[in-house]
Amino acid sequence: MAGLRGLGGKTAIVTGAASGIGAAAVSRLLDEGCQVVGVDLDAEAARRVCAPADTGRFHAVAADVAVEADCEAYVRAAVERFGGVQLFVNNAGILGKLTPIVDMEAGEFDRVLGVNLRGVFLGLKAVLRRMVEQGEGGAIVNTSSKGALKPPANTAAYGTSKAGILTLTKVAAIEHGRDNIRVNAICPGLVDTPILSPAYREHEAEVCAGFPMPRFAQAAEVAGLIAYLLSDEAAFQTGGVYSVDGGAVLV
Ligand SMILES: NC(=O)c1ccc[n+]([C@@H]2O[C@H](COP(=O)([O-])OP(=O)(O)OC[C@H]3O[C@@H](n4cnc5c(N)ncnc54)[C@H](O)[C@@H]3O)[C@@H](O)[C@H]2O)c1
Repeated sequence: MAGLRGLGGKTAIVTGAASGIGAAAVSRLLDEGCQVVGVDLDAEAARRVCAPADTGRFHAVAADVAVEADCEAYVRAAVERFGGVQLFVNNAGILGKLTPIVDMEAGEFDRVLGVNLRGVFLGLKAVLRRMVEQGEGGAIVNTSSKGALKPPANTAAYGTSKAGILTLTKVAAIEHGRDNIRVNAICPGLVDTPILSPAYREHEAEVCAGFPMPRFAQAAEVAGLIAYLLSDEAAFQTGGVYSVDGGAVLV
């Protein structure tokens, strides 16, 4: 379903575009009439997943979101290819190894924080600078997680990184409200994407048995919330934290 107000004709950058939620966001934003720059470690993979039909409105860029020069380069690519950036889905992330704190290697903690938290910070820095320079406002969605609100054991790195994203979201919203740049965070529950281990994906019924809506989300359902928050339908929503988890955070 397309037709949200204020998306058509705008340019979006989506990180983590080659898979899962990012790929679904690209597809939804193309349906809404946006131009999209899809960012991932492997640009060819992003191209394959996101642009089966060459619309001329999709451009793939290879970047590591943990590297500042790469973040500056994907913003530059949006400017060169489509003339600017109005929308940003700051979404790339990794789960990392799930172990108790006492067994977690410091290097693994740093790696997860590097992609999930530093990557979101660097993306915000590069995109906000451009949006402020353009002077036409903008909208940003950062992908956090239910794991930030209700962290299970063994997620010290992942959960901490996702909790940090909520604070980055609020700070950015405060700093840029007067620029008419809105910044919100989403907290998906379990979504059926490759980030989940095969064991999880194969045992959906058991894993989700205790949830109010006992199933995984589909990536397109998360993309629907992202598109809404980026659109003018959400014109007065900023600094918010929005769950999309079938009520799982409640139990
Ligand atoms: N699937 C879930 O259950 C779930 C739940 C809550 C939050 N999330 C979050 O949603 C976001 C998207 O996850 P997904 O489920 O679509 O997973 P996914 O593994 O399907 O997709 C993640 C994408 O990010 C890319 N990526 C990883 N590290 C990168 C880097 N350094 N630079 C650029 N790209 C990089 C990967 O190549 C991949 O294409 C993540 O931030 C994840 O933490 C997922």
